[in-house]
Amino acid sequence: MSWASSIHTIRVNVKIRNDDSNSERISTVNPSRYRFYDLHPEAADFRVDVIQGLSAPQPAIPPKYFYDQTGSKLFEAICATEEYYPTRTEVSIIRDNIDEIVSTLGKQCLLIEPGSGDSYKVRLLLDALRPIAYLPMDISRLYLQEEAQKLAEEFTWLKVHAVCSDFTRELTLPYEVKAGQKVAFFPGSTIGNFTPQQAVKVLEEIGQMVATGGGLLIGVDLSKDSRVLNAAYNDKAGYTAQFNLNLLHRINRQLGADFKLAQFRHHAFFNAGQQRIEMHLISKTSQQVHIMDDHGNEHCFTFNQGQSILTEYSHKYTVEAFQQLAAKAGFEPVRTWLDAQRLFSVHYLRYIK
Ligand code: AVJ
Repeated sequence: MSWASSIHTIRVNVKIRNDDSNSERISTVNPSRYRFYDLHPEAADFRVDVIQGLSAPQPAIPPKYFYDQTGSKLFEAICATEEYYPTRTEVSIIRDNIDEIVSTLGKQCLLIEPGSGDSYKVRLLLDALRPIAYLPMDISRLYLQEEAQKLAEEFTWLKVHAVCSDFTRELTLPYEVKAGQKVAFFPGSTIGNFTPQQAVKVLEEIGQMVATGGGLLIGVDLSKDSRVLNAAYNDKAGYTAQFNLNLLHRINRQLGADFKLAQFRHHAFFNAGQQRIEMHLISKTSQQVHIMDDHGNEHCFTFNQGQSILTEYSHKYTVEAFQQLAAKAGFEPVRTWLDAQRLFSVHYLRYIK
């Protein structure tokens, strides 16, 4: 058998770490400008996801788990490398076209950001756009509250309605919005992490949320010369390799696994047939790794030499291919902005279902 499988069972007690508290962070922002809504997303289960992922024919770990503290720092370092063009290109497209973007979205919109994180990119829009409210949505409760409050303090005119939810499971607003245009902001080519089939589902969910006539401002990385793509995911400084390997480090630390990091190597390549970057961690030797489940059962995974763990897809689209994908989800293209080198695209689409 070529894939990893659980081969024995030991019963012990496992303490489950819980990083996030249910408490509401005290805000010093005027309550007329800052609200916090908790939709009580089910805590993502890192342990269950990792054991399930590693048990598949192609062992895999969901890319959302890259972003612990170290991973987030490493991602920032990647964004600052010469080779990794997406972040800086998207930022410059938004900056260079801010007037057109704002007039296309229209004033007085309700701006919703699924997976808002540190709300960095939305800062490029806010002063010019002047939305009636900004709704950052994130699964990480305390982080969301901190970032949303910071933003409300920084933009002293802005209404910030933070929503704790998991957009990969449900995309709903915390209150009914009758009048006014709803616009979702989905930057960073995060959509590329999903397969095209999954991406249509995500876009459908966004469409349902913004409702007919609502909009979507989305950043999508473009298909291009494979040399440029391969370089972007194999930076010379090695940050992407560290970012990839950090996933194993995180699994060791938080789940008590025994991955030997020196026995795996980073492998990223452009799969031209599927138009995607694939990131893998390749086993340098034949080896075993152990992880305990919630019931105290130890799972032992065997990796043969050369066998890989898939850690990320990053799909690339032409403008037309992305528009076709979005059309399947009920969106029509309104405007698209590109950089001069056509590395990256920012689309505004309208939901017409
Ligand atoms: C944040 C998902 C858009 O796919 O390019 C960067 C993450 N992975 N280098 C991407 C990433 C490796 C990034 N996204």
